[in-house]
Amino acid sequence: MSEVFITRRVFPEAKDRLKEAGIEFEINDTGEVLDKSELIGNLEGKEVLIPLLNDEVDAEVLDAGDELKIVANLGVGYDNIDVEAATERGIMVTNTPGVLTETTADLSFGLLLAAARRIPEADRFVRKGEWDGWELIQPQQGVDVHGKTLGIVGMGRIGTAVARRGRLGFDMDVLYYSRTRKEDVEEELGARYVELDELLEESDFVSLHTPLTEETEGMISESEFSTMKEDAILVNVARGPVVDEEALIKALESGEIRGAGLDVFEKEPEVHPGLKELTESVVLAPHIGSASRETRLKIAEIGVENAIAGLRGERPPNLVNPEVL
Ligand code: NAP
Ligand code: GLV
Repeated sequence: MSEVFITRRVFPEAKDRLKEAGIEFEINDTGEVLDKSELIGNLEGKEVLIPLLNDEVDAEVLDAGDELKIVANLGVGYDNIDVEAATERGIMVTNTPGVLTETTADLSFGLLLAAARRIPEADRFVRKGEWDGWELIQPQQGVDVHGKTLGIVGMGRIGTAVARRGRLGFDMDVLYYSRTRKEDVEEELGARYVELDELLEESDFVSLHTPLTEETEGMISESEFSTMKEDAILVNVARGPVVDEEALIKALESGEIRGAGLDVFEKEPEVHPGLKELTESVVLAPHIGSASRETRLKIAEIGVENAIAGLRGERPPNLVNPEVL
């Protein structure tokens, strides 16, 4: 019987590594997300579950995996897993931190630039044949990025990598708000720690990099938008529910803020129609923060190494609930 269930397609390299380790596995190769009953139906006798971040692994799923030793998530965020329930059941949970930091920071900065300089809109304008020459006042007039103030919410791995791009590449002043002070980043980048309200009041660009937790859900909502500058641009490459989407749409429509670059959404893969309609102020991406071929390959490799270690009774390299041991 297979020891491992993988909820979606993975690279051949990851399958080869499992085979090389002599581990039998089953994969949902349909390309479709399994619903809960299908996921549960595949867990009988499995010691390892390798899910993606859009597979909800709650207490019911964990109970169905009566042989489960480890849930090895493919991604750094693990808000899709009920870690407390896993710990109570003695199940290890792992993630894939670090390998995707720079790639995700690249995309964050890309969205920031795209929203500020209205690049997707300009691309559509050229393709439609609407461009009839250079003029001083062009329709896609944006705002400068260089020399402005960048506010980072959640100064962890990705937040720091985005701050570095802003400070070193674009001569930006960096403000940050995070759960704990980061004196090393303050020293390296001259970043200044401020409370969230002050960050929102002073930043031209607000970039979100917290995990999704009970504390961060809805962290950026109506009152936060009313505190932001009229010319501010919000970038969310963290998790959709960190931002109240209805409030964001209202803030954009009323001109409370200027724009947004979004890689994540409240109800993925659905995107609020109100956001899709805002073609001049919003840039959208389908959760591709870590989606370079090199990085996705590393994510799969690390996920598989975590799974193999857990299956062999060793401590997996990226254990998020060490109290389980
Ligand atoms: P990380 O290193 O753990 O950074 C998260 C930061 O947020 C930490 O500094 C943490 O503080 C801070 N934080 C946590 N709760 C907070 C709160 N309530 N208020 C303020 N700050 C808080 O994680 P990472 O590797 O940078 O990843 C961050 C998140 O990005 C992931 O959890 C995931 O959801 C998202 N992500 C998205 C994509 C994508 O494709 N769009 C790709 C990768 C990651 P401490 O330092 O005190 O712990
Ligand atoms: C992607 O969103 C991740 O959390 O790795």
